Amino acid sequence: MCGIVGYIGTRDAFPIIIKGLKRLEYRGYDSAGIALLNGDMTVFKKAGKVSELEKIVIPGETIANIGIGHTRWATHGEPNDRNAHPHLSQSGNLAIIHNGIIENYSSIKEELSKRGYVFHSDTDTEVLVNLIEEVQKTEKTTLDNAVRIALNEVVGAYAIVVLNKNNPDQLVAARKGSPMVIGIGEDDFFIASDASPIIEYTKNVVYLDDQEYAVINRNGTYSIRTLGNVEKSHAIQKLEFSLEAIEKGGFEHFMLKEIYEQPKAIEDALRGRMNASQGWIKLGGLNEFINRIDNAGRFIVTACGTSWHSGLIGEYLIEDLARVPVEVEYASEFRYRNPIINEKDVVIAISQSGETADTLAAIELAKERQALVYGICNVIGSSIARTSHAGSYTHAGPEIGVASTKAFSTQISLLTLIALQLAQVKGTIATSKLREILYELENIPRKIEETLLLDAQIKEIAAIYKDATNFLYLGRGYNFPVALEGALKLKEISYIHAEGYPAAEMKHGPIALIDENMPVVFLATNQSAYEKIVSNVQEVKARKGKIIAVIHKSDTQIRELADHIIEVPETEEILSPLITIVPLQLLAYHIAILRGCNVDQPRNLAKSVTVE
Ligand code: F6R
Repeated sequence: MCGIVGYIGTRDAFPIIIKGLKRLEYRGYDSAGIALLNGDMTVFKKAGKVSELEKIVIPGETIANIGIGHTRWATHGEPNDRNAHPHLSQSGNLAIIHNGIIENYSSIKEELSKRGYVFHSDTDTEVLVNLIEEVQKTEKTTLDNAVRIALNEVVGAYAIVVLNKNNPDQLVAARKGSPMVIGIGEDDFFIASDASPIIEYTKNVVYLDDQEYAVINRNGTYSIRTLGNVEKSHAIQKLEFSLEAIEKGGFEHFMLKEIYEQPKAIEDALRGRMNASQGWIKLGGLNEFINRIDNAGRFIVTACGTSWHSGLIGEYLIEDLARVPVEVEYASEFRYRNPIINEKDVVIAISQSGETADTLAAIELAKERQALVYGICNVIGSSIARTSHAGSYTHAGPEIGVASTKAFSTQISLLTLIALQLAQVKGTIATSKLREILYELENIPRKIEETLLLDAQIKEIAAIYKDATNFLYLGRGYNFPVALEGALKLKEISYIHAEGYPAAEMKHGPIALIDENMPVVFLATNQSAYEKIVSNVQEVKARKGKIIAVIHKSDTQIRELADHIIEVPETEEILSPLITIVPLQLLAYHIAILRGCNVDQPRNLAKSVTVE
């Protein structure tokens, strides 16, 4: 939700900020803007993508070595030029960029209006920059102190950077509930919502914590304080990923690159955490709290979107293998429905970004009620990773395409390890079976590579159904959450309405939708309940639905009934989602491309949802 970039140093700020904004565009692309200081404050802003902003920039007016930039995912105010950031204070001395929501902005706006402030946008952000200016004026204080005082008055979530025309040697940044990283260069500083705009210049970073603000000076010094005015010092951390990881590497889109990266991502997720021949699993985070986890009365998995789908697979895995009850909750519902949680519960919070506001709120609630929180995150150092008591990183590498792909498969890989390790501790799995599954898990990356070879065939199927207006995805058991995820992938990037259902539920309603225009994707690789799925396929066929079936090579019956078959390699049933999701990701990708959609930046979406 909104990307922010700031630079102060000796280099030309404009290209650094523009490049940084392009890297952060996955966070929002409703509008973009930049403010530069070179004696005067120069601001350019435009609705649309960063490329639109570049078109209106006047060459010769971008020379500066301090500046801030923003790419927006609209919350308050429609996405137009007026509402684009940066926003200026009444005097024009301050410029601000903001990621998040100021919830009490309307009462502050009313008060400021009474004091003569006039607003030129519909945003909460413009209210905040004027509040800072008002504090600065009335308290006759420095900008950083005014930022601190103003932020103590606001309710909401934010990451902000403020530029001051009267002090071209300083940037002030602050955060609460939205991420912020400060890159420390040789003689310059970079500020950004994540490390992708920074990695090209320095690997040394400091992560700002919630309720902290930083004063960053051109003379190479910086200081961090809490909003309660207590000085803090954070260890400098080394960025682990490379520049290549955030570039397309020959692929047309990040989404396709990330689909193809899944074999390696899964290998990275498993590396050092299991050994099939020796029959061990070692998840550091789990070991640390193993007694408490072993004694848990139940697990509650909480997450949103794709991560929630992997949580459902986690439920099947943990109940199946370790025989402990699991509940899976949408984080947004969990947080606001007064759930029963106690100190014997273990809450598994799953999040690619580690910044999803709903999931963070659910974690806070779980912690308040004394549950142990285990985080499964991809982004190192993210808020969820830091606020959880224990956890494991998925190590999928940066996921930039807005539609989640490799995060999903690595989350499932980790959930499989958690379920297996628990089963081992509880003695609910025979050693021989454990080894068998671990061997098969090691084989999964190779089997995904085999599945990726079906790309051209899937593209042909996509061409046949690209103009469909609805799709149904059906699966049973472990393939039911995969059906949900396949439908989500299609709708979010191609804008075709799609629904995922347990195959047997179809007859309780969705069957009414089936006619000759309805493509139905069946996930039919199950060894168990195979005959039942055959019946479900028959039911669709009888109503002239178009059947696209994901099957095993050994399938005998469904291949005869389906209009199209996608043959994937066989594996243990509990591992099948890792394979069956791949053709669905490719199908969604190709349909979206054939419909001319922007798969990496689908409309209305953003990669990291930092508002509730
Ligand atoms: C779908 C997608 C979203 C996210 C959801 C949670 O492709 O990307 O549904 O899965 O917003 O995000 P994280 O995992 O970052 O908490």
